[in-house]
Amino acid sequence: EKNLKVALLGCGTVGAQVARILLEDANELASRSGAGLQLIGIAVRNLETKRDVDLPKELFTTDALALIEQADVVIELLGGLDPAGQYIAAALSKGASVVTGNKALIALKGAELNEVAAGSGAQLRYEAAVAGAIPILRPIADSLAGDHITKVMGIVNGTTNFILDAMDTTGAAFGDVLAEAQALGYAEADPTADVGGHDAAAKAAILASLAFHTSISSEQVSTEGITEVTAEDVAAAAEAGYVIKLLAIAEQGDAGISVRVYPALIRRGHPLATVHGAFNAVFVEAENAGDLMFYGAGAGGNATASAVMGDVVAVARQIAAGAPLPNGSVHQRPRMLDFDAI
Ligand code: HSE
Repeated sequence: EKNLKVALLGCGTVGAQVARILLEDANELASRSGAGLQLIGIAVRNLETKRDVDLPKELFTTDALALIEQADVVIELLGGLDPAGQYIAAALSKGASVVTGNKALIALKGAELNEVAAGSGAQLRYEAAVAGAIPILRPIADSLAGDHITKVMGIVNGTTNFILDAMDTTGAAFGDVLAEAQALGYAEADPTADVGGHDAAAKAAILASLAFHTSISSEQVSTEGITEVTAEDVAAAAEAGYVIKLLAIAEQGDAGISVRVYPALIRRGHPLATVHGAFNAVFVEAENAGDLMFYGAGAGGNATASAVMGDVVAVARQIAAGAPLPNGSVHQRPRMLDFDAI
């Protein structure tokens, strides 16, 4: 059995859970993957930061590039464009496969990174980038590959749904609920990405790119967030039989493709109106399949880690089945870094 060296970049809300699963479920993951998944290190910005999970100290390093150099598979959960983008490019160009949850980066640089991957035969997977635990990218890219998708629509940001839902059910003010969403680990490190609609726009761009077999960047998504939505707006909507939700809509019609994110009035009886807390829901319309609906936890450490691990197992299975590894056989690769020396 092959033994794959796995490097984890980032140990925040999602990264810590990914590390836990890799260590706790090592045997099960190996038997499902057809290859061992050995966590060789976790690159972080600050060694002193307190983590959500108690992890072996010797795994931690601040030298991400040295770790990538040793790895067959790199899991990028740092977030942000820089240096995450350079790390992913470095990993892919040396032939290491990459699993990431970085929607901002994929929505902006996905096409370029896919080219780097194609050039070296490495795999790039990012199911965790959209709608947390919900399997949505693979269904769109693989299961519906023989159909024509005409529309993808839904709630793809857990933080804003949590905020709007709390405003609707308790009449709470925007600011108070945002702090709660941050404490629960739903919000981005910089929550303006959530409330400004940019996180949803990045996800909409990724969904549209896969659904319509093209390359749509987050910069092309018309975006309005929820910062202007007041308690009065929510109450007035409720009075009229509606609930306000931050919607992402990608459509392909005769006039072309349109992708937008905006706070929409949803009728109380609509299935999207029943999406509460940090849950997400995505509707897909395809010519032959008809209407499909995907629903589940859209944010949070464990939920998003599940999507990351699904990609890690998929990557490992392909490698076990003969997909290339960096610099040829894994058995010729150097042994684990001596972290004590760093
Ligand atoms: N901040 C994101 C959200 C995390 O609230 O949906 C999941 O991508």
